[in-house]
Amino acid sequence: MERYAHITGWGMAVPERVVTNDELAKTVDTSDEWIASRTGIRQRYVANARETTASLALEAARAALEVADLSPRQIDLIIVATSTPEHIMPATACLVQDALGAINAGAFDLSAACSGFIYALGLAANGIRCGAHNNVLVIGSETLSRIVNWKDRSTCILFGDGAGAFLLQASSVPGGVLASLMRSDGSGGDSLIVPAGGSRMPASAESVRNNQHFIQMDGKEVYRFATRVMASAAREVVQCAGLTLDDIALVVPHQANRRIIESAARSLNLPEDRFVVNLDRYGNTSTASIPIALCEAVAAGRVRPNDHLVLVGFGAGLTWGAAVVQWNETAKPEVSPWHRIGRQAGYGLSRVRSAVRRGLRRVEGIVYGKQSEVGAGDETLPPRRG
Ligand code: COA
Repeated sequence: MERYAHITGWGMAVPERVVTNDELAKTVDTSDEWIASRTGIRQRYVANARETTASLALEAARAALEVADLSPRQIDLIIVATSTPEHIMPATACLVQDALGAINAGAFDLSAACSGFIYALGLAANGIRCGAHNNVLVIGSETLSRIVNWKDRSTCILFGDGAGAFLLQASSVPGGVLASLMRSDGSGGDSLIVPAGGSRMPASAESVRNNQHFIQMDGKEVYRFATRVMASAAREVVQCAGLTLDDIALVVPHQANRRIIESAARSLNLPEDRFVVNLDRYGNTSTASIPIALCEAVAAGRVRPNDHLVLVGFGAGLTWGAAVVQWNETAKPEVSPWHRIGRQAGYGLSRVRSAVRRGLRRVEGIVYGKQSEVGAGDETLPPRRG
């Protein structure tokens, strides 16, 4: 039986607080007029101390599971694409797995900057099509406000926080993710970079003093790259799917700059109303931008059954990628009405399960600790049983 990977659930989350251009203009030397005319952005959402990449990812993931009507236990794999993970380790995806109670899922983070969601979508779809997975949760989540230098007007105006999630499910109904591509060019890595905090430049008092934990960007360089790859990636992926641009009902581009999207539209010879643009309200939310834009397009009734969509993104790395999706809500597997009730109860239980597991691990640590004090041998490993 031929297998297809359908998007059967989708959800988004943004922080409570909105920061308008006018508000930004009170702290940096800029204006609503400059930002709106150069980028199209009017406002962005900014996380408070309680809102993190994992908490936004979790909210979006739960919304996607509601739409798909799927229990977290049925998820095989969770991929969180992010440039602002909760920690360097463990993966943010593992925190989401634990909070969801997705006890049968593998989980990992994917780092491909703003192209990360497209990369994750492609990997998930390939995994489903080849039979390795049935239900994969793909999330793009960011708190870029944590790595933005709020004194640097050339970058702080661009970015925002948010999360978007898709649930991909195996189905024998033709459609879903028809084609995807991923590309990179590491020679352009310096043009969009957070220099410190990694292996090359570990955190130090000096790196903090020099603002090297913040995003640094060569805006013009990134702009040129973006306008080049958006159109070429869209063209190439449409061809991979065996379609032409005339078959495409809607393009959901990465929401970085309105001028970049307009330039792609011109290059592809497509009318601008065939592009989803919501960056005026969100700014650039990196990996979350494409799923948030698609969630909004669906909610607005802009996506109809069997429509062919192109999702296309670019970002630091440099990376870029695209996917063609045939939207087919009818491909959703049959589910029982008890799922919803079970799922809600399960979220409460997953907290308890997590707390119990932590407790057991602590007890285990104490027991093993005592035993290894008594027994001779390797101090770093627990003593062998039996
Ligand atoms: N407010 C007011 N003036 C600003 C400003 C701001 N927020 N940011 C920069 N300026 C000034 C500059 O200092 C410069 O002044 P000068 O001419 O006196 O030197 C002038 O505006 C023009 O700056 P420039 O950098 O040439 O503007 P631009 O037209 O290239 O627009 C970006 C800047 C960042 C909006 C644009 O380059 C861009 O969108 N690049 C792509 C970035 C991106 O998408 N990154 C994420 C990729 S995932």
